[in-house]
Amino acid sequence: MYQLSETAKQIKRSVMRDLMALAVSPDILSLAGGLPANDCLPADELKACFERILQRDGYRALQYGPQYLPLREWLAAHMGRRGVSCKPENIFITNGAQHSLAILSRLFADPGDSAVIESVTFTGVQQVTLGRRLEVRTVPTNLVSGVDVEALEQAFGKQPKPKFAILIPNFHNPLGVSIALEKREKIIALASEYDIPIIEDDPYSLLRFEGKAIPYLRALDDGQHVLYIGSFSKMLAPAMRLGWIVAPDELGNRITVLRESLDLESSQITQRAAAEFLTSGYLDGHLAKLNNTNLQRKNVLMASLQQHFAPLGAKWTTPEGGLFCWVTLPDHYDTWELFEAAVAQKVAYIPGGAFAVEGGYNNTMRFNFSNATEANIREAVSRLAQVIQEQKPA
Ligand SMILES: Cc1ncc(COP(=O)(O)O)c(C=O)c1O
Repeated sequence: MYQLSETAKQIKRSVMRDLMALAVSPDILSLAGGLPANDCLPADELKACFERILQRDGYRALQYGPQYLPLREWLAAHMGRRGVSCKPENIFITNGAQHSLAILSRLFADPGDSAVIESVTFTGVQQVTLGRRLEVRTVPTNLVSGVDVEALEQAFGKQPKPKFAILIPNFHNPLGVSIALEKREKIIALASEYDIPIIEDDPYSLLRFEGKAIPYLRALDDGQHVLYIGSFSKMLAPAMRLGWIVAPDELGNRITVLRESLDLESSQITQRAAAEFLTSGYLDGHLAKLNNTNLQRKNVLMASLQQHFAPLGAKWTTPEGGLFCWVTLPDHYDTWELFEAAVAQKVAYIPGGAFAVEGGYNNTMRFNFSNATEANIREAVSRLAQVIQEQKPA
């Protein structure tokens, strides 16, 4: 018999993974995943980039090696264009946002320490806090303006002092909402007043298809309280497994050593291919195509919800980007129970309760609109409305 660590014993099985596995069957119309559109992934451009760098860099692309400077330089300039002045040395390349979250959670907190997260949040955020046996304080999120800053202040003010907070300011997963500018300013003031690091988890900001960009938390900060996390998963391709942290000078060495203990370093070949993609100027065209597709699909989802869900008394968020929309049914519905009936009708979504840190939210659901065709979105929403209508109120 193996004797497992407390961490291994306490880690929660990902209900979401189970549900998604169910939902990938080809005969199911799925709004369950969290994937960018299959037909928008830049396969041809990436093929050209991988070929070029193997030709040009030879063994260097296949060896161990330091963080790839041209990628760090491109990212520092990119962050600069978004109002974050930093040097290439402040850019720390990781294997994606989840990896960055895991590193920063370990950088700031030990098991038993406190951390602040949103009551409804991406399951990976729960894994790097609850899953590390941190004492988690939750704050609710307003579905129009983002995290509740009064609740955040209360959570910051309680003893023992939290070691960090994780927020998803742009096109939240699963809620689809972004934090309003006034709230962002208040959050920065609170981080400074209480001296608590904010981890800004931002895989989605470049996936804006409507409205005006809102400054990053890190752009409003003096560089002392916000650690920005970016990711290539959604802006390029999830399989790149690449992301970055913008960290102040004083933390760079610590992060390097901590990261080495986990997985040594990121792949040279993918760092170089990503840099080639970016410096060849492919990104703008790719994002234009991706965001245009996402916008069309989001519009079809909104129209379908209006037609089929409004009569049921449902409400939903109106995302200006990203991949997700959050739907709230009247209280008496149970979206866990509905899920089985929905799958029987060959349609799937994620019950919102799967994202609820302390349970509840059983009348909610997350829809992904990016990876289904317009026809499939229409049909999925119509079928789901039928399933909901047939469910007897609990
Ligand atoms: C809010 C949020 N953070 C982090 C991640 C992890 O992303 P990555 O693929 O970059 O590890 C995701 C993935 O869906 C996410 O939605």
